[in-house]
Amino acid sequence: MEIEDNEQVFYYRSDAETNKYQGFVPKVLKEVDEFTARNPAEFNKPESWFQLVIIKKDINEIIGDIGVRFIGEDDFQCELGCTLSKDHQGKGFATEAMKITIEYLFNSLNKHRIIGSVDPKNCSSIRLLERLNFRKEAHFKESLLIEGEWVDDIVYGLLKDEWNAKYKNK
Ligand SMILES: CC(C)(COP(=O)(O)OP(=O)(O)OC[C@H]1O[C@@H](n2cnc3c(N)ncnc32)[C@H](O)[C@@H]1OP(=O)(O)O)[C@@H](O)C(=O)NCCC(=O)NCCS
Repeated sequence: MEIEDNEQVFYYRSDAETNKYQGFVPKVLKEVDEFTARNPAEFNKPESWFQLVIIKKDINEIIGDIGVRFIGEDDFQCELGCTLSKDHQGKGFATEAMKITIEYLFNSLNKHRIIGSVDPKNCSSIRLLERLNFRKEAHFKESLLIEGEWVDDIVYGLLKDEWNAKYKNK
């Protein structure tokens, strides 16, 4: 995600209904400017979130993004988050973009484990993770404070071996 992407990112990220389970819902473009400016120059930097954009090639438009958090402790674990514009949901684009990202993290960067963290009410995100073979690992009660409200958090996990058993050479 780069500075010139900001207006397109603002369009789908500012949609309060689509993003009701997200921590980042910008009200003004300046918030996206700050968000993009925090994107590290380097991919795979420990203890950083790196935002990738999802571009629909035939229209050359940004339709969503994937955030990759490189967890710092051991260099082998990541967290993923995915956001898609409501205009392009329900067509498999998030699944396709996540598959490419996961494949790269496991089999090019040699990550061992990837997690996803979702609100239990966020059904489309849960379906996305389960479609990608993530396993439910934990349900934390009221463990996150979002917009002044304590919300539950479900953590999903996926190991490199589990991914390769399902998708390698398929
Ligand atoms: C999470 C999110 C990205 C999922 O988007 P999505 O559009 O449901 O996911 P996909 O693009 O992979 O589309 C899959 C859906 O399209 C359908 N589909 C239609 N054509 C398809 C095709 N050719 N290939 C695959 N799926 C297809 C699938 O059946 C599936 O529908 P279902 O979930 O009702 O079973 C989206 O809901 C979102 O942006 N939410 C807001 C942000 C958020 O809360 N993110 C989570 C926090 S990290």
